[in-house]
Amino acid sequence: MNLITIDGPSGSGKGTVCHILASKLGWNLLDSGALYRILAYAALQKNIALEDEKSLAALAINLNVAFISNGIGVDTLLNGENVGDKLRTETVAQAASKVASIQVVRDALLARQKAFFQAPGLIADGRDMGTVVFPDAPVKIFLDASAEERAQRRFNQLQNKGFDVNIAQILSEIKDRDYRDRNRTVAPLRPANDALEIDSTSLTIDEVVNQVLDVVALKLNLTVK
Ligand code: DC
Repeated sequence: MNLITIDGPSGSGKGTVCHILASKLGWNLLDSGALYRILAYAALQKNIALEDEKSLAALAINLNVAFISNGIGVDTLLNGENVGDKLRTETVAQAASKVASIQVVRDALLARQKAFFQAPGLIADGRDMGTVVFPDAPVKIFLDASAEERAQRRFNQLQNKGFDVNIAQILSEIKDRDYRDRNRTVAPLRPANDALEIDSTSLTIDEVVNQVLDVVALKLNLTVK
């Protein structure tokens, strides 16, 4: 089964590692966090309260979303409009973390996520890919890094984009979101029992990718360079 799940908190390097792996292997990519972000964005736009479980679940079921490869990356379309940039704000991130803690919302998004598993294979990026969505995946990775390192990475990223940012505030937002994601009763962020845990705090992206490719070679008998 050509399926790799990569779970972990934001800033662990997961997104970048998943893109590189998908491109090296030529497999499909599921950015499940983007689904929660799109749902949160759509709810904010429609003034749906983030506690209104019924309306959020209905919105999740009817979400008209598409991920279209544009050659360099992926365009995220909501009702045909490219909303990629709008999903990356802290407001949407916090709202996504709230809607993601609701069981009926997660249930409503489950089939949509499973449908991404198509030939020739799938890299699934998220928080519960190895525990809930694809529990039978042959390769499961849990990628983590210290909160301080993850805040520093986010700080550098935003500063490079020209934003005036405060690292203490970023660290506190990261800790808030982590606490919610790791302690929620529904599908909390945690490694699957059979996941390989990688701490990327002092690793480069290439080092992480190579560690994952070593596991892929071993478990799937697939060698990629
Ligand atoms: O990975 P991300 O930052 O784009 O995810 C946004 C939010 O969605 C994050 O707070 C956790 C949540 N999420 C989740 O609960 N389950 C997933 N599989 C992916 C993301």
